[in-house]
Amino acid sequence: MSTPQYFIKPLYVTQPVLPDLKETYKMIEGIWQSKQLSNNGPMVQQLEKELEKFLGVKYFSALCNGTAALQIACKALKLTGEVITTPFTFSATTHSLAWNNLKPVFCDIEEDTFNINPDLIEPLITRKTSAILPVHVFGNPCDVEKIQQIADKHGLKVLYDAAHAFGVKLHGKPIGIFGDITMFSFHATKVFHTIEGGGLSCSQAYLKERVDNLRNFGQGDANYPEPGTNAKLNEVQAGIGLLVLKKVEEEIKKRNKLTSLYRQLLSDIPGITFNRDIAGVTHNYSYFAIRVNPDEYGLNRDQLFLKLQEYNIICRKYFFPLCSNFECYRNLSSASKSNLPVANRVADSVLTLPLHGSLNTTDIEKVCDIIRKIQQKSFNNKKN
Ligand SMILES: Cc1ncc(COP(=O)(O)O)c(C=O)c1O
Repeated sequence: MSTPQYFIKPLYVTQPVLPDLKETYKMIEGIWQSKQLSNNGPMVQQLEKELEKFLGVKYFSALCNGTAALQIACKALKLTGEVITTPFTFSATTHSLAWNNLKPVFCDIEEDTFNINPDLIEPLITRKTSAILPVHVFGNPCDVEKIQQIADKHGLKVLYDAAHAFGVKLHGKPIGIFGDITMFSFHATKVFHTIEGGGLSCSQAYLKERVDNLRNFGQGDANYPEPGTNAKLNEVQAGIGLLVLKKVEEEIKKRNKLTSLYRQLLSDIPGITFNRDIAGVTHNYSYFAIRVNPDEYGLNRDQLFLKLQEYNIICRKYFFPLCSNFECYRNLSSASKSNLPVANRVADSVLTLPLHGSLNTTDIEKVCDIIRKIQQKSFNNKKN
C-alpha cells in the first residue's frame, strides 16, 4: 500500500470568497469620494435591498456581526426568562441569551440532521419560557413546521440562527421567512460574507424598525425610546458584501460538485458516514461533516483529526465541546449529559472536512484517499 503524500500548503476547512481586487479598489474609491464611511450609508442601504431580494425576505437589517444580531433580536422580541435552544451550535448562540440575562434551556438534537429535536421541546416549556432559539446546523433546515406549531400553542417567539443557511430554501420557501426573526452571519468563514458582519430578517415592519433603532444606540427620533447599542455595519464592509454577493451562486455550485465527489469517494470507507441532501431542500453546501465510528474506522474522531493534520489537512471539530459542557453553562439542570445523549454522541464523533470553491477535484480525491489509507493502516496495525 503506497503512502499518500501530504499537502504542501495547509488545506483549511474553508477559505473566503474574494471579490476581484480591481472592482474592490473601484468600490472603495466611490466610498472615499462620498466621504460617508458609516451610519446607514448608501452601501448598507443597497446591500439590505439586494439581500431582501436574494434571500426572498420582506425586511433585512445589516449588522456588524451575527453575534450582535442575535443579541439585538432577543431585545427586539422582548424575550424574558427562559429560552429553549440547542447545545450543538457555536458559542455565540448560547452566549447571546446569557448576555440578555436569559436562561438557556438545552434541548437534545436529532441524530440525522444535528438540529434541535422538536419532539423534545414541549416538556422543557415552563411558565418562564418566552421563546425557542433553534439553529439550522450546517445549513440543514430545522423542522420549522413543528417548531411553529409548538410556539403558537404556547405563545412563544421563534428566533432562528441561520448563520450557516445563507440562500437555503425549504420546499422553495426561503429559510429567512420562518419564525419571528432569523439571524444570518456574514463572517469571512461563511458562504456569503462581509469580512465580519451579519443581519436579521423579519416580516413585520415594527420589528425591522426596532432592530434598526437598537443597532443605532436606540436613539429613534432623538427621543431614545429604549437603550440601544452600536451594531452598525460600515460602508466598506457593505461594499465588499455587494461584490461577494455576485459570486455566491457560483461558489455554491462549486461546493455542490465537491460535496458530491466527497460522498461518492467516502461512501465505502468503513466507519465513515455523512448526511445526504434532504428532499425538498435547496442546500448551500456550506460545510461537509462526517461522523467517525471508531469501532469500524479503527480510530476515533480525535485521532483522525490529528492524523489528518500530519497530512496538512486542517479539519474542525464543529461543535465540540457542546455549549452545554462549557464551564459557564454546565451547572444548568438542562445541561446534564443524561438530558442530551444524542448531542453528546454527535459532538464526540463529527469532523468537518475542507470544503470551499478554491479546492479542486484532485484535492478532494487526495483527502478521501488519505482517509481511506489511514483506516486500512490502523486495521492492519491492529491485526499484527
Ligand atoms: C451557528 C452560529 N451562530 C452564530 C454565529 C456568530 O456569528 P458571527 O461570527 O458573525 O458573530 C456563528 C459564527 O460563526 C455560528 O456558526
